[in-house]
Amino acid sequence: MRKIVAGNWKMNHGPVAAAGFFDRFRPETDPESVELIFFVAGLSLHAVEASARVPVGLGVQNIHWEPSGALTGEMSAEMAAEAGASYILAGHSERRHVFGETDAEVSRKVAAAVRAGLVPVVCVGELLEERRAGRLAEVLRRQVSAFVPALRGSGEFMVAYEPVWAIGTGETATPYDASEAHGIVREALGALGKAPILYGGSVKPGNAAALMSAPDVDGVLVGGASLEPEVFARIAAAGEQSVE
Ligand code: 13P
Repeated sequence: MRKIVAGNWKMNHGPVAAAGFFDRFRPETDPESVELIFFVAGLSLHAVEASARVPVGLGVQNIHWEPSGALTGEMSAEMAAEAGASYILAGHSERRHVFGETDAEVSRKVAAAVRAGLVPVVCVGELLEERRAGRLAEVLRRQVSAFVPALRGSGEFMVAYEPVWAIGTGETATPYDASEAHGIVREALGALGKAPILYGGSVKPGNAAALMSAPDVDGVLVGGASLEPEVFARIAAAGEQSVE
């Protein structure tokens, strides 16, 4: 099956740096075996679209759930779609833990993405305390059951399992940990369990192939290591190696 290699640039790479990235980004992967997606700042969407020389999916990292209105500083799903996005990250751990986003808000953002025809990539993941307390399955089931109704049983979506303790810390879940968590997510998705599930959290060229070869891991969502074109191209190549 095709692997998905997605980069989340977070608050990095404005339009100039985004264009510079694509001047140097030369993945040697076959788009039939590796799908590349970039989650970029809304204001860099156009630069990426104009400068990417290989097929890439484009997404934004956050939206507001209202379609328009007096909400200074916010961007709607419809506006992101109009600016060229096809995907949206919902419930990234930085949104949940730095900005206090709740499961209910994540669910409204998922509903807004579906309304605007964007593919939501919904992030879930446990805190270290929750894992240590044996609450992994409970937390993942709660996060999944909160957004599933917003999908209204239709449309394409993905889940990204990103254990909070592995994001930007250099700590990575083992392929076994990732498979176990992805199995829990798949089961919680019930009839929607065939959706792709990506792993995120300190993915690097050195661990990407092992993670993407693990059962139930359909791809990766990469933060820091997606900012450098040569490094991210090596992760894409690891995706190709892992295709069965
Ligand atoms: P890092 O790869 O920098 O740990 O970030 C992971 C992440 O948050 C991707 O969304």
